[in-house]
Amino acid sequence: MTQIFDVVVIGAGPGGYVAAIRCAQLGLKTACIDEWKNPKGKASLGGTCLNVGCIPSKALLESSENYERVAHKYSAHGITVEGLSVDVPVMISRKEKIVEAFTRGIAMLFKKNKVTSIHGRGRLVKEKNSEGSWRVNVQNGDKEEIVEAKYVIIATGSAPRQLPSLLIDNKCVLDNEGALALAEAPKRLGIIGAGVIGLEMASVWRRLGSEVTILEAMPGFLSAVDEQVAKEAKKIFTRELGLEIQTGINITKIKPTENIVTVEYLDSENKEQKLEVDKLIVSVGRVPNSANLGADSVGLQIDDGDRIQVDTHCRTNLLNVYAVGDVVRGPMLAHKASEEGVAVAEEIAGKIAGQEKELPAVNLDAIPWVIYTSPEIAWVGKTEQELKMSGVKYKAGQFPFMANGRARALGETNGFIKILADADTDRILGVHMIGPYVSEMISEAVVAIEFAASSEDLARIVHAHPSLSEVLHEAALAVDKRALHI
Ligand code: FAD
Ligand code: NAI
Repeated sequence: MTQIFDVVVIGAGPGGYVAAIRCAQLGLKTACIDEWKNPKGKASLGGTCLNVGCIPSKALLESSENYERVAHKYSAHGITVEGLSVDVPVMISRKEKIVEAFTRGIAMLFKKNKVTSIHGRGRLVKEKNSEGSWRVNVQNGDKEEIVEAKYVIIATGSAPRQLPSLLIDNKCVLDNEGALALAEAPKRLGIIGAGVIGLEMASVWRRLGSEVTILEAMPGFLSAVDEQVAKEAKKIFTRELGLEIQTGINITKIKPTENIVTVEYLDSENKEQKLEVDKLIVSVGRVPNSANLGADSVGLQIDDGDRIQVDTHCRTNLLNVYAVGDVVRGPMLAHKASEEGVAVAEEIAGKIAGQEKELPAVNLDAIPWVIYTSPEIAWVGKTEQELKMSGVKYKAGQFPFMANGRARALGETNGFIKILADADTDRILGVHMIGPYVSEMISEAVVAIEFAASSEDLARIVHAHPSLSEVLHEAALAVDKRALHI
């Protein structure tokens, strides 16, 4: 018998599972269809983020950073450890336990909120039922069922972009999944793409002993990041962490054999080069999962970047069909996906309740970004190069962690915080951070931007002493050239 719901969500990553929970909280009869299976072949909710993305990468970053601290940083505190060793399989199994606990947690949240969880691949079917509801075909192996709902939320996420004619076997040539599951640190590790995944994975395996070479096609480094932050990051990653980063390269051939991968490329001066590595990570971006959804048969519009086309409220061209997260425009970030999921759930609940009022859309200009390297990089709003390009007049205030008491006590003095504010109104336009725990501090900057704060607003707020947040406070004072401790 066909199951009938108010809302069917396709995909249970941070976009889909959060949308489903919020729909259920608002009293809607909700189902969430997801096809992810873990390496044991069991259904595993949480999508890329929980299974092979945010959570496992942060678990390994933390483990490897702890090792790095004990091996290289604690001696300055008078703490030395003899016979230090690292057990990579233990590290990996800790990461797997964290992933299992969290994915099981989503299943429990579904149960608690009475979301019906359906395992399988969801596809929109052309014919609507007599009430105009959508029909979604769910395929699980050779079993098929049809579920119906008036509203559909597509949250099918993204997958690693592949290089032409290079097979990812996750043995020698790895994507993020393989890079998070190595049994030991490879002696020589190559990484194609100096983006977010490339740098986070380089950090993990370099700290555990690999010689890491990153090959990046773009002439610059971290081009989406504020130029001054990117320059500081490259200096620290190469000099202190020991990463070899080559930019402006052009890959000509990749030859994997059983134990070695050979990469041939032209360097930035167009000279032929060859790199031999034991493992190669390919991290050259991600592509939206918009195929296999039945888009053609129902006339769902997809753009030329394979993203499902949506308006600012995540509405597709099809009535009552929404799409959120990595499969649509905007940054491919878990928190962005979740906030879109909540916004869509609330819009649907409002419609079902007969409310005409339009709710605010998720503000894509105030999405925080974090790169979990050491030091961490975090930002929100416009970069200095963007402001220059658009001709906006701005003032900048900057303060280094070196002059902060808490950073000194931590022994983490690299980096700075920079605030960019409108030259006339003083409204904060962008905040850029490189330094310890800036992943936590960026939220204050997000609040400031969302509330249209001025740099003076931040400068007049009392910040605890001694704390890293005083660096943000001093950067705000510096916009008005009145920083106190420099
Ligand atoms: P996904 O998480 O990709 O989930 C989509 C789900 O839909 C999957 O379970 C998929 O199997 C399922 N699905 C697809 N098609 C169908 C179908 N037809 N039927 C049924 N199910 C289907 N972001 C951050 O914000 N912070 C981080 O620290 C961070 N770290 C990352 C580290 C790595 C290594 C990677 C790869 C990504 C990281 N990201 C991070 C990005 C983050 O994982 C994504 O932005 C986020 O998972 C997107 O959520 P989503 O719900 O849109 O899609
Ligand atoms: P990315 O877009 O961050 O970086 C890809 C890099 O590969 C770019 O610098 C690009 O110029 C380069 N590149 C592309 N083709 C190339 C080629 N042929 N040869 C050499 N270099 C090439 O993508 P990445 O690292 O794969 O991550 C995907 C997305 O996942 C991120 O953009 C981000 O949205 C998300 N993510 C977020 C994290 C976080 O929030 N901390 C962590 C990891 C991923």
